[in-house]
Amino acid sequence: MTGRDPATGRDLATDRDPVAAGAARPVPVVDGAARPVPVAAGAARPVPVAGGAVPVLVLGVDAAGRPWPPAALAVLAGAGLVVGAARHLAAVPVPPDVETVVLGPLAPALDRLTAAHAAGLPTVVLASGDPGFFGVVRRLRAAGLPVRVLPAVSSVAAAFARAGLDWDGTVVVTAHGRDLGPALHACRALPAVAVLTAPGAGATEIGAGLAGWSRRLVVAEHLGSAAERVTWTTPEQAAARRWADPHVLLSLAAPAGADPAADPPTPAGVGPVRADNQPAAAPADGWALPESAYRHRDSMITKAEVRALAVARLRPRLGRLVWDVGAGSGSVGIECALLGAAVIAVERDPAAPIAVNAARHGVDVRVVTGDAPAVLRGLPDPDAVFVGGGGTAVLTAVADRRPARVVVTLAALDRIAPAVHLLRAAGYTVTGSQLTAARLADLPDGSIRLAATNPVVVLTGERP
Ligand SMILES: C[S@@+](CC[C@H](N)C(=O)[O-])C[C@H]1O[C@@H](n2cnc3c(N)ncnc32)[C@H](O)[C@@H]1O
Repeated sequence: MTGRDPATGRDLATDRDPVAAGAARPVPVVDGAARPVPVAAGAARPVPVAGGAVPVLVLGVDAAGRPWPPAALAVLAGAGLVVGAARHLAAVPVPPDVETVVLGPLAPALDRLTAAHAAGLPTVVLASGDPGFFGVVRRLRAAGLPVRVLPAVSSVAAAFARAGLDWDGTVVVTAHGRDLGPALHACRALPAVAVLTAPGAGATEIGAGLAGWSRRLVVAEHLGSAAERVTWTTPEQAAARRWADPHVLLSLAAPAGADPAADPPTPAGVGPVRADNQPAAAPADGWALPESAYRHRDSMITKAEVRALAVARLRPRLGRLVWDVGAGSGSVGIECALLGAAVIAVERDPAAPIAVNAARHGVDVRVVTGDAPAVLRGLPDPDAVFVGGGGTAVLTAVADRRPARVVVTLAALDRIAPAVHLLRAAGYTVTGSQLTAARLADLPDGSIRLAATNPVVVLTGERP
């Protein structure tokens, strides 16, 4: 290993000395149970240093299959304890007399690592790709261990490289050890998403969840190893088969005009070049946009002042799914999508300009044409629903799906009380207000008047 450790100032390559004859040393065992055995006289072994001063070295295992750099080999040669997954331990030249701990559950390995570190033994943790990128560094820091990281090419970078695609505008999410919903909704919402998967939360499950969305998928299994396999596929095909772990999933939407069946979807990359990769940040052009920002017919559009409140109450963000039922122009759903949510716009009129408006604002809104409530049945469960059109039957069907929030706009007075009662009976806490906006309008003589818009009642149902 070359270079000095910033924490200690020591040259890590020289943090080991010849061994005292007959001293006990650890041997490789599985699942954390290290047994000390006598060491042959004159053999080299790492010598503990005082007080755990040497940070734990976290070595990335390269997902692009590049050979180990000399610095990493030197670290391994000098290690007293090496912790890693079986596949990582098999892939690296750990000297046979060095104690290894095979992961398994992390907690017992952390205990062993902490003890070894406290005893001053040079310790190494092997982890895939860049260990600081959705990796083990967080857990080591949380356990109070100082770390020094030698990163390698991440599985995400390697997957995009193998697919021959640029990826600077990509959002990376993980499905590891958590509910699959947020990762799936990110794939539904955004044009380029990389998903770090886990057994039971991978390409099969996400492929199934993307049925109905226009996506190409790349499944990259066992990157950097002899078993590497990179497959272009569709959500339907991905759902119908099993994939080897570990794998990374890339979910790609074809830009407008590209052939969605082509691999890759467009020769230019996966989408327009973005200046950032923060799609959940506030949209550059804001929201509660004027009606003129949308194509709409017969004023079938939620007015800007009402939309501002409705969108705020829906709490859209990356990782959530919003239904816009009775979408009309799609303005409410589109603004939710601008704020990062996955959106399904439900509208009975096939001529409604939702897709045109979504394209105009650069968001991917899935349009489902048909009559609610019937058409709602096959849709994935939403986190929030905007009901801009439809009667009691629609609201009942929506409440039955138990979204965290329901926002309803009503112009007809006789529908207000039934809607409130219905939501309350379904377990929602309901708040509401009537909005009357009077907009500035110019008079011919140069003075200004106020022009009234129609009053609307906005109801919000929230689950306590
Ligand atoms: C805890 S994350 C670690 C990510 C890692 N820090 C990196 O930069 O690649 C584990 C996930 O990374 C992906 N992964 C890691 N190594 C991989 C490999 N060699 N081939 C395919 N996917 C891999 C899988 O999605 C796996 O479930």
